Amino acid sequence: MRPRGLLITIDGPAGAGKSTVAKKLAKKLGYLYLDTGAMYRVVALAAQRLGLDFQDKEKLGELARTLDFKLVPAENGVKVFLGHEDVSEAIRTPEIDRLSSVVARIPSVREALKIRQQAMGKDGGVIAEGRDMGSVVFPDAEIKFFITASLEARAKRRYEEQKQRGLKVSFEEVLSNLRERDERDSKREVAPLVVPEGALVIDTSGLTPDQVLEIVLKEIEKVKKNG
Ligand code: DC
Repeated sequence: MRPRGLLITIDGPAGAGKSTVAKKLAKKLGYLYLDTGAMYRVVALAAQRLGLDFQDKEKLGELARTLDFKLVPAENGVKVFLGHEDVSEAIRTPEIDRLSSVVARIPSVREALKIRQQAMGKDGGVIAEGRDMGSVVFPDAEIKFFITASLEARAKRRYEEQKQRGLKVSFEEVLSNLRERDERDSKREVAPLVVPEGALVIDTSGLTPDQVLEIVLKEIEKVKKNG
């Protein structure tokens, strides 16, 4: 056992319900929610503000290594700070959806964020959520989940989420953005989205968040009992 508890990874495509279950689980267990997508997002936001060229891999890698950002546990997940500025909302726009998947393809960015993620997760008591948590960053995690859902179910959830936040988007736009992101996330050369070895796959298409949480908690109990 690690000093602060188990290290649990949750991977899967965008909109599958990973962050919902990760937040609920972190709250239930009193663990830290490590939102690694937010890390790619804050790098993309900073790069955009600095007017960096998104083709310039060296500069973007340097930015990911040195950027002053923080993930701070909050009532509803995490708050993300860039320097002293709360950018939790600013990193959730469709433009940053797109730019974050562009920076996530760059090996030096991934390497820099991997080091930061490993430092945050190594003592356990963490729910690490992302695309490569169980496969690349924490291959030795005690429990791994791969959470997925059909493209249509995921697009529907994203659409509702963005509508609720007051963003003007059409369902078709959300669907095609997701399709594009899936393509980029699973076809990229470094750390493509894969089902990690030993992960329990959960298809959430017809499930409520509480039903997903129940499946996850049962699995955690099972692992605790057996080992
Ligand atoms: O989960 P999200 O939508 O906040 O992630 C934003 C982008 O970052 C998305 O394109 C996938 C990428 N990402 C990644 O490549 N690896 C991670 N561990 C987390 C996110």
